[in-house]
Amino acid sequence: MFIDLRNSKDAFSSAIKVPFFSPLITSSDKNSILKTLNSSLLTDGPILRNFEEAFAKFTGTKYAVGVSNATSALHLSLKALGIGVGDEVIVPNMTFVATINAVILTGATPVIADVNEDLNLSSKSVLNSITKKTKAVLPVHFAGKMCDMNVLTKIARTNNLLIIEDCAHALGSTLYTQHAGSFGDAGCFSFYPTKNITTIEGGMVITNSKKLAEHIRVLRNHGIAKSLSQRYNHGKPWDYEITEPGYNYRLDEVRSSLGLNQLKSLTQLNQRRRKAFQYYSDELKSIIGITPLTQSDSGHACHLYIIRVKKEFGLSRDKLFKKLLMRGIRTSVHYKPLSKFSTYRKYIRVGNKLENSESAYSEILSLPFYPQISKREQDLVVKCIRESNL
Ligand SMILES: Cc1ncc(COP(=O)(O)O)c(C=O)c1O
Repeated sequence: MFIDLRNSKDAFSSAIKVPFFSPLITSSDKNSILKTLNSSLLTDGPILRNFEEAFAKFTGTKYAVGVSNATSALHLSLKALGIGVGDEVIVPNMTFVATINAVILTGATPVIADVNEDLNLSSKSVLNSITKKTKAVLPVHFAGKMCDMNVLTKIARTNNLLIIEDCAHALGSTLYTQHAGSFGDAGCFSFYPTKNITTIEGGMVITNSKKLAEHIRVLRNHGIAKSLSQRYNHGKPWDYEITEPGYNYRLDEVRSSLGLNQLKSLTQLNQRRRKAFQYYSDELKSIIGITPLTQSDSGHACHLYIIRVKKEFGLSRDKLFKKLLMRGIRTSVHYKPLSKFSTYRKYIRVGNKLENSESAYSEILSLPFYPQISKREQDLVVKCIRESNL
């Protein structure tokens, strides 16, 4: 049974008729959390192992390593792949700041490249951004639509580059039935509350490389080569080796049990997303100047529903945002381009022109979207958009 948190009253939601997002935690999720809370091992235990196995199976990869969030997944993947000071990593201008922060944390230089109309990394821009220092490309499967991994993997192979896929939006995204994250060297997922499944905070790295998976397992746990249960099972638990200084980026047992339980419903949740996605597209079709960013297809995880507000609509994106808010509808923008953050100027190199991302930024608007959104809510959003420029 789904428990709908939209009915809960708090200061954040009181005047809101349609929230931007609403979490979906089932009674079965709650039971799995409570059951785990009664176990004696609350972190670094068997439920994490089960979640990792189920995740690897779902994504069709050999290894999955649970971590504290997608930012740490990206950071550890880059570190374990040997990216550091003096290296360059190509990132799209349109992404959440976590993507670039993970690169900066390694000491490498992020090189900002432009995106296509669908806000996915432009292969042409990647080619124009490569230098002798380029070590990796970090594509983001934006809003759940896959990047053109055929072209990107070809570019990477020709230029001897690593690929780390940011799959924060892409749980359930596929290209020719191959899951996001399995094209490159590593794929990094987020289980933040708005994502296609949640552990509240949490993340996962997938890879087909045993060496990389083992390295990330060690780095997520302070650099300690053995897990706690391995240490108890074989000798003195305090007598361990540190292979290199690491981090505490672990995913605990309670979060793992929530993730494992949510993963069982993922296909159903993504079907609901796809249906709601198509409903918006059908209902918005007749509004001149409003176009969906992408169409849904069977490989699209439908993480966000984004429209472009064109000149012909007669109202700017910012004005539409305000009008909708005044009518109790929360929308948002994904994202402010990385090139617009002054803090990053001292860290980055800009690969080449960022025309597409900068022009998209003034037009994009993310509509309320979650698996349990009702037709009534979607109808209200569409009606308010339609009436906003009258
Ligand atoms: C594209 C992208 N990358 C990375 C992240 C970071 O995820 P997390 O919050 O799990 O660290 C997010 C989170 O929203 C994201 O949208």
